[in-house]
Amino acid sequence: MTTGMTTERANFGSKLGIILATAGSAVGLGNVWRFPYMTGHNGGAAFILIYLGCILLLGIPGMVSEFIVGRHSHANAARAYASVTTSKRWGAIGLLGILTSTIILGFYAVVAGWCLYYLWAAVTGDFGGQAESAQLYFQQFTGDALRPALLAIGFILITHIIIVRGVRDGIERASKLLMPLLFILLLVIVGASCSLPGASGGVEFLLKPDFSKVTADVFLEALGQAFFSLSLGTACLCTYASYFNHHTPLLRSASQIAVVDFIIALLAGLMIFPAAFSVGVEPDSGPSLIFITLPTVFRQAFSFMPLLGWAVSVMFYALLVFAALTSTISMHEIGTAFFHEELKIKRSQAAWILTVVCSVIAMLCALSVARPAIQVLGKPLMDFCDLLTAQVMLPTGALLTSILIGWYAPRKLVHDEFSNYSSSTPTLLFRTYLFSVRYVVPLCIVLILLHQFGVL
Ligand code: PHE
Repeated sequence: MTTGMTTERANFGSKLGIILATAGSAVGLGNVWRFPYMTGHNGGAAFILIYLGCILLLGIPGMVSEFIVGRHSHANAARAYASVTTSKRWGAIGLLGILTSTIILGFYAVVAGWCLYYLWAAVTGDFGGQAESAQLYFQQFTGDALRPALLAIGFILITHIIIVRGVRDGIERASKLLMPLLFILLLVIVGASCSLPGASGGVEFLLKPDFSKVTADVFLEALGQAFFSLSLGTACLCTYASYFNHHTPLLRSASQIAVVDFIIALLAGLMIFPAAFSVGVEPDSGPSLIFITLPTVFRQAFSFMPLLGWAVSVMFYALLVFAALTSTISMHEIGTAFFHEELKIKRSQAAWILTVVCSVIAMLCALSVARPAIQVLGKPLMDFCDLLTAQVMLPTGALLTSILIGWYAPRKLVHDEFSNYSSSTPTLLFRTYLFSVRYVVPLCIVLILLHQFGVL
């Protein structure tokens, strides 16, 4: 089915643009903030191996499926899902994705706002230097909801400005600038961190698996992390794929993006743990790792050359801000494209709807950190949003997409998109993909969801 919008619709301008923009969505706080603390919390290398398994087994096939839906329809997520079969009801998956990404943008912007604040604190050298004062510094900052809420809204507004510029001039240009910068900063800090005395303990923690720490929960967390990090199950990949052209190789692009995403997560680990081990800090300090532990770590680790410590801190928080920005852009785009095309309003008006809704969610999340009494189902709203999206909504979105592509979509459509209408794609490759989306992906996700709800 064609959407009638194909001709006037934007698309990415170059192959590199496609990869950088989509990798920009995938690479974000998920890699630099969430992955290191999850790894620290779940025992290091063993967690990383399971995470890698999730990416290969479920992540790449899941990405290709979302790409197929988006590229086939060249439309926003809801319309894209509705156009795969004759039944419009599948459009609900797209709507679920739009809802999920809106919630994620709400709480993600709060953490992105913290990064912005810490970037400024790093520049001015305003951190609490010792461990206790770093903790106090973080608590005082997040304990007053106003500043974090305003910073989160500020971050959403920066995203808004880029989104309004459009797909090529906004999203693609920002990604082409920010992604290489991010990579360079990352390499410089990894170099500095790994050359510290005693850094090898951190490298070992990341590379030597200890399977005694592996429990069923570790699998669940690895899966949630893989989906979150690949931006899977949120209709984000589907929306970006709607800007792909018909020459974009879907499997190859998905694999490249997954590899880039994994390497950056690993490098983030190599940036944080060697420095932490070098000054004897435990790696399992949870979500506050990069805000409480790291400022002290950087200061102590580079105490022999304070200027270097200052430079590394500034680069680190700048890197976080860039990484967050390319991801918030993609989350914002999902809803903006939807409102723009479905309500037939201007792109800038559509963007405002999303900006306002996400700002309200962000405000409530920031408030729930300051006043943990604001709870949903016994958890502060901020944690609740994180868990609800990573462990329920994303897997559900990916599960339904797999069922749609594996069981209900016309086989010819799936094959044509998978192979870019060429007959030279090896049959075995397509069969393996199909087997995986029909059986492996749904089965694994169902098992994990059942475990999550205490059935297994
Ligand atoms: N993948 C992004 C990250 O790792 C987060 C994200 C989730 C982006 C969902 C878009 C959609 O930070």
